[in-house]
Amino acid sequence: MDLLRLARAVKDRAQEPFTDLAAMARIVADPRLPLLLVLNRTLFTPLYRASFLAAAAGSGVLGCLAARPCDLESLAEHLESGPDDRQRLRAWLDIGVRLGELDRSEGCYRLRSRTAKALAQVGNDAVAGALEELLRFHVPALRDAPRMLKDGGRFELSDQDGLVIARSTLVVRGFVEEAIRRTLPRTAPVRLLEVGCGSGAYVRYAAGLNPRLTALAVDLQAEVAEQAAKNMAQWGLADRVETRAGDLRTLDLQPQFDVVTLHNNIYYFPREERAEVLARARSFLAPGGTLLLTSSCRGGGPLGLDVLNLWFEYAGFGGPLPLADELLDQLREAGFDAVRATRPLPGQAFHSFVGSNPTAGPAALPPARSGSPTTAEEAAS
Ligand SMILES: C[S@@+](CC[C@H](N)C(=O)[O-])C[C@H]1O[C@@H](n2cnc3c(N)ncnc32)[C@H](O)[C@@H]1O
Repeated sequence: MDLLRLARAVKDRAQEPFTDLAAMARIVADPRLPLLLVLNRTLFTPLYRASFLAAAAGSGVLGCLAARPCDLESLAEHLESGPDDRQRLRAWLDIGVRLGELDRSEGCYRLRSRTAKALAQVGNDAVAGALEELLRFHVPALRDAPRMLKDGGRFELSDQDGLVIARSTLVVRGFVEEAIRRTLPRTAPVRLLEVGCGSGAYVRYAAGLNPRLTALAVDLQAEVAEQAAKNMAQWGLADRVETRAGDLRTLDLQPQFDVVTLHNNIYYFPREERAEVLARARSFLAPGGTLLLTSSCRGGGPLGLDVLNLWFEYAGFGGPLPLADELLDQLREAGFDAVRATRPLPGQAFHSFVGSNPTAGPAALPPARSGSPTTAEEAAS
């Protein structure tokens, strides 16, 4: 209830006996009420809206309603909910109406708010995924940190929903595609290994740029690899791209690839293991082959990156987002030549890193370079 409604309620009841009015005055004078009303408007309702919209987008309800108004039965069918669950579904949808995200008339629900309509668009799925990531993974990091400090709890990979992350991570698609465009040979046949492929969207993009490209796409999480394989089939790429579940740290492959890519996943590896992981990626490259790694780095960027960093701080695996200079050093330590970092947009956290596998063939790992340059661009060699 906001202040306006409260005032109206008092006015409507002004005719009532004096004793009632006195009771109402006592209730309204409760010193906690102003804070509660302010929080209701600024915190509680936006959180309810965000939660409803994330669930409605992730479950496909927004998509259904964008196509046409739907009655309870067709939404129940879409959600595969049982016949006994109609009342529960109605209760949830009606909160959506109360929040102003949906409308209901003549027994049908339709989209009402601009946000709901925007999130329902297929092209905005990454943003809907980011909203879901925020609520399902960022909120627990903020909420559970004190408890985890006490009981020593840690997030594990199974606490992430790989399919949600595979959608949300595409919010940086413009940056990653630009990095691929700058790096990928366009005409010669290219054999690509993509590590941690997520949805497979970037393998698809690379295959579109170079019609002679073939690829092996691997992802640690079986359900993510399975979805990526389905996507490849749907995109007509199943004959050019092999997709499988696999862990970079245990992959058994020959040095047969012209390009190895790691997009948005270096922080899934502990900081102290990154040079070794990168050396392993290099071992799959043919002499003269190229590594392309993209990642948001620490320092600047939106608040969400700091919270992502916090999540990994409380995880039992992985590590912080990289520092650009540190990652350049680790690439050199891993034996890459001509390493360089680029920021497609100056001042942004997103970086692409490129390194070459020496043409003389895999050599013993050189010792780590001492001393760090001051900026990624200065460190480029
Ligand atoms: C944030 S997602 C990024 C997905 C995709 N690269 C993108 O940018 O859209 C990170 C992905 O890396 C995968 N991954 C993490 N560690 C891995 C490993 N050791 N080997 C292979 N994949 C890994 C995760 O399963 C997850 O799907």
